[in-house]
Amino acid sequence: MGKISRVGILTGGGDCPGLNAVIRAIVVRGIRKYNFKMIGVLNGWAGVLDYDWIELTRESVSGILHRGGTILGTSRTNPMKNDQTMKLCIENYNKLRLDALITIGGDDTLGAANKLCAEGLHIVGVPKTIDNDVGGTDYTFGFDTAVEIATEAIDRLHSTAEAHHRVIVVEVMGRHAGWIAAYSGIAGGADMILIPEKPFDLEDVVQAINARRERGKKFSIVVIAEGAYPKGRKDYLQSDKIDDFGHVHLGGVGTNLAHDLEKMTGMDVRTTILGHTQRGGTPSAWDRVLGTRYGICACDIVANEQWGYMSAQRGFEIIPVPLADALKSNKRLPESVYEVAKNFFG
Ligand code: F6P
Repeated sequence: MGKISRVGILTGGGDCPGLNAVIRAIVVRGIRKYNFKMIGVLNGWAGVLDYDWIELTRESVSGILHRGGTILGTSRTNPMKNDQTMKLCIENYNKLRLDALITIGGDDTLGAANKLCAEGLHIVGVPKTIDNDVGGTDYTFGFDTAVEIATEAIDRLHSTAEAHHRVIVVEVMGRHAGWIAAYSGIAGGADMILIPEKPFDLEDVVQAINARRERGKKFSIVVIAEGAYPKGRKDYLQSDKIDDFGHVHLGGVGTNLAHDLEKMTGMDVRTTILGHTQRGGTPSAWDRVLGTRYGICACDIVANEQWGYMSAQRGFEIIPVPLADALKSNKRLPESVYEVAKNFFG
């Protein structure tokens, strides 16, 4: 094995509670156990393209474990945008004299990592997303915190919905998968949960609301993931804003749903879009531990020169798995979890 001495770290894509725990773990492990020099690349792949970086020491990662966001900054910059950006990325990796680069991100960041690995760069990944939909791993850090935040919001919305005899639509994050919607909806006792995996029938939602009224309950809480839409109505998700990876900006299905439900039921309907509150603030203890375990594993993957691998949770263990495992497909909510939720609809 060649000598590894300079190791870069970057955080890409949407931020996620627990990112700083991962960074801290990589830096402490890298310096203490392997004597690596640690380089923090700033603002995701944008920092590679702009040659923007800092040195990371044990001092620079002290006091960050409990903090949300990422001390390195992040962006949705796509290094694979065109041949020039790819070329610049490889040039600057070499200019930085990196022996390895640890990329912490979701499927876009990891996809770029895999591609650059195929070009001969020494890249290792750490999967990240509050949506919990990255493949190849059981759970991603940030998900637990997001579920806690959404559950607390649903708890709070219950009392005001009840006081006003209203239907309240709560929109949570979840572009391709309904993990946050299902977990917070089950934990918060939602009367209906709508997820991207299952395009829904507006009539079924109306029926559930009416059935509940008939039982004497004068309010309803409907949880909808931002990527959920009625059958044949993908236009519910329409937006004219597209990011560097070609993803439409989401956020607003809840408003459309509330509008339709008000028309169809004649009831008073309100929407709360939780948006980025789900990603902000302090990470839960669970996410700090998971992020720390991911970081330690990623550093060991570098030391073992397993390029093209990432840390992953399988059962209770954190192990190296090929980046390709994460990229095969998004991790959908298991049918069995949705079946549990359905017992409480209506
Ligand atoms: O990728 C995670 C996620 O939280 C998605 O659920 C959401 O669509 C997206 O990020 C929004 O991110 P931003 O507004 O920061 O681009």
